[in-house]
Amino acid sequence: MGWWKESIGIIKELDPAARSTAEVLLTYPGLKALAAHRLSHWLWERDFKLLARMHSQFWRFWTNIEIHPGAHIEAGVFIDHGAGLVVGETAIVEKGVMLYHGVTLGGTGKDVGKRHPTIRQGALISAHSQVIGPIEVGPGAKVGAAAVVVSDVPADVTVVGVPAKVVRVHGKKDEITIHEIEESREYYVQKLEEAREASRHSSGL
Ligand SMILES: CC(C)(COP(=O)(O)OP(=O)(O)OC[C@H]1O[C@@H](n2cnc3c(N)ncnc32)[C@H](O)[C@@H]1OP(=O)(O)O)[C@@H](O)C(=O)NCCC(=O)NCCS
Repeated sequence: MGWWKESIGIIKELDPAARSTAEVLLTYPGLKALAAHRLSHWLWERDFKLLARMHSQFWRFWTNIEIHPGAHIEAGVFIDHGAGLVVGETAIVEKGVMLYHGVTLGGTGKDVGKRHPTIRQGALISAHSQVIGPIEVGPGAKVGAAAVVVSDVPADVTVVGVPAKVVRVHGKKDEITIHEIEESREYYVQKLEEAREASRHSSGL
């Protein structure tokens, strides 16, 4: 399936307000930003870095959506509204993901190399949530509005709050599984912090 067909298709599938292809093409800033990103990314990959950044900034002006040209975004992603959305350089966003306005897929400022999140297939990232660091949001996971996500989110769970905690697993309030998942998430956050600390020491910072 072509990029346009997939990108328009997902909007019509997920947004009851989308009545026709013409309406989607003319009135959805997320679609424009994603189409522009394809060219920015093409330029970026061919080492026209400055041109790529200028192109992406031009479209930021028109759409209020800032996607770094280095970000990898698959076809069939839906950005709804989109105002204030920021996607960082090393972010990866897979097919079927839905991103709302005010979302940040950002870095912590503490990591090097892969610094931004990976959002797996079909995940929902609700309005104004901040997903920060080289973490992964699993397939089909839901991040609640205004959550701050600083550690991996397993597949098909719902996380809410600051910092975001698991509140549903496969749509159910299964307290025992939720507790187990939270324990392992805390363990990995601690390990990540230790690794960051060790790397700061070894680089003499
Ligand atoms: C999180 C969300 C996706 C719902 O996911 P869900 O798996 O259906 O979860 P539920 O609605 O069953 O809520 C689970 C729990 O989280 C709480 N919750 C839901 N959203 C929350 C949020 N954003 N912040 C804090 N708590 C939240 C619910 O009250 C419920 O609490 P309980 O366990 O005490 O009953 C949804 O509530 C949400 O945040 N949607 C925002 C979508 C959006 O951005 N819309 C913008 C349109 S313009």
